[in-house]
Amino acid sequence: MRRLLLLVLPLVAAACQAPPAETTQSTTATEAPAPHQAVALTAVQKAGETTFETVCWSCHGTSGRGDGPAVAAGVVSAPPNFLTPQYADATQATLERRFQASLQGNDPSHPHMQYVASLLKPEKFNEALAFIPVLSWPPEIAGSAINGQRIFQFRCAACHGVTGQGNGPAAASLVTMAPANFTTDTLIAKKDWQGVYNRIKEGGQSVHGSAMPTWGVILSDNDIWDLVSYLATFQPGLLKRPRWIN
Ligand code: HEC
Ligand code: HEC
Repeated sequence: MRRLLLLVLPLVAAACQAPPAETTQSTTATEAPAPHQAVALTAVQKAGETTFETVCWSCHGTSGRGDGPAVAAGVVSAPPNFLTPQYADATQATLERRFQASLQGNDPSHPHMQYVASLLKPEKFNEALAFIPVLSWPPEIAGSAINGQRIFQFRCAACHGVTGQGNGPAAASLVTMAPANFTTDTLIAKKDWQGVYNRIKEGGQSVHGSAMPTWGVILSDNDIWDLVSYLATFQPGLLKRPRWIN
């Protein structure tokens, strides 16, 4: 009897649902498209990202430039800038070797990192090391695409859309010009990174009738380079593939 009831219930539920055509329509209207990903991560890097953003960023900064809030507050000596070829090319194995002594509590010459190593399970610490080269990507532009993605979702997606096609929810409110579509954009297609940077910093003031805000007023130059790096990922093939993707 119970079994029969279990079989019947889903059928009743299905019968009560709206006709299929309407169901499809309402799904497309409410389902948000997935945000464009700056760069594909390995499973280890993905796990390391979580640790980096909870533990490491306070000193190393969200882009890895060594400018986190603890450094700005003057309580920690400045860590190295990870947006350099040295860290872009570093493998997890090299970085792990560097911190072997720290993980064993035997590296007094690096007190900050020895302290951090004592707070985390070794495998979690090592995953965070695997994430460091991701921060430096793409090496050909002076910004961190993965951090640019975060700023973009918060500041730019309303107009340009989470997929960068110029179709965000606020795009329809604009009467003069439509937000640029980064998947076909000419400045990006031309790899004119300085031009993209200038347009973000200055906004649409040089373009008659553009609602593109003057971002240089509130964003730092580093944030703007992070955004340029992220925008460069909207057009496949413009950037060298990260070495962790075969
Ligand atoms: C309390 C501040 C602080 C935190 C939190 C912190 N670091 Fe550091 N880190 C430093 C400082 C200072 C240096 C430079 C001196 C040194 O090597 O100890 C550094 C250096 C490094 C280096 C460069 C080492 C080299 O020789 O090239 C790496 C890689 C690194 N940290 C990774 C991490 C990771 C991964 C985390 C999070 C699990 C983390 N750090 C958390 C302060 C911090
Ligand atoms: C209020 C809506 C709005 C917001 C928010 C907005 N933009 Fe724009 N953006 C526009 C419009 C409209 C244009 C097209 C006209 C122009 O080029 O000024 C544009 C153009 C651009 C261009 C020039 C592309 C080209 O090659 O011509 C870049 C680059 C750009 N936006 C980046 C950004 C970034 C990065 C952010 C977030 C920090 C952002 N925009 C936020 C409306 C917006």
